Amino acid sequence: MQKLLPLAALLVFGLSGGMAQAVDEGTKQTFNFYCAQCHGTGGKGDGPNVTDDFPVNPRNFTKKDEMNKLTNADIKNVILKGGPVASKSPMMPPWGKTLSAEEIDSLVVYLRELCQCEGKQE
Ligand code: HEC
Repeated sequence: MQKLLPLAALLVFGLSGGMAQAVDEGTKQTFNFYCAQCHGTGGKGDGPNVTDDFPVNPRNFTKKDEMNKLTNADIKNVILKGGPVASKSPMMPPWGKTLSAEEIDSLVVYLRELCQCEGKQE
C-alpha cells in the first residue's frame, strides 16, 4: 500500500501539469480589466471600445486558424511590446510596464484556452 503513495502523488502532479490550460480567476480578471475593453470579455474582438471608426479590429482570440499562426512567444512579445513589434497596429498597446512577466505568461495560456488551440510550434 505504501508503495502506491508516490505513484498517487505522481498522478496528481501529472494531471495538474496536464491541466496547465486552465487559468485561475485572477488571470480572467486581468484580461477583463485590461484587454476586454477592446478584445471583448469572450475574446471575440468585440469590446466596447471598438466603434465603427476603430481603424483595425482587435484580434478575435476564438479564431483558431488565426491564433494557430502565432507561437506563444509571438503572443507574449506582442503583449509585452505592443502591436508594432509584430508589424501590427499601434492600437494594440504595450503592456510590459503594466503587467508582470507572470501575468503575461498566464494571459498567453488564457488566450490558448479561448482559441482552444496549441498555436504554431516554436
Ligand atoms: C485599446 C485596445 C486594445 C487593448 C486594450 C488590448 N488590445 Fe490587443 N489588440 C488590439 C488591436 C487593435 C489588435 C490588432 C492589431 C492588428 O491586427 O494590427 C490587437 C492585437 C493583439 C494581439 C496580436 C494578435 C496577432 O495576430 O498578432 C494579441 C496577442 C493581443 N492583442 C493581446 C492583448 C492582451 C493580452 C491585452 C490585455 C493585456 C490586449 N491585447 C489589450 C487592441 C487592443
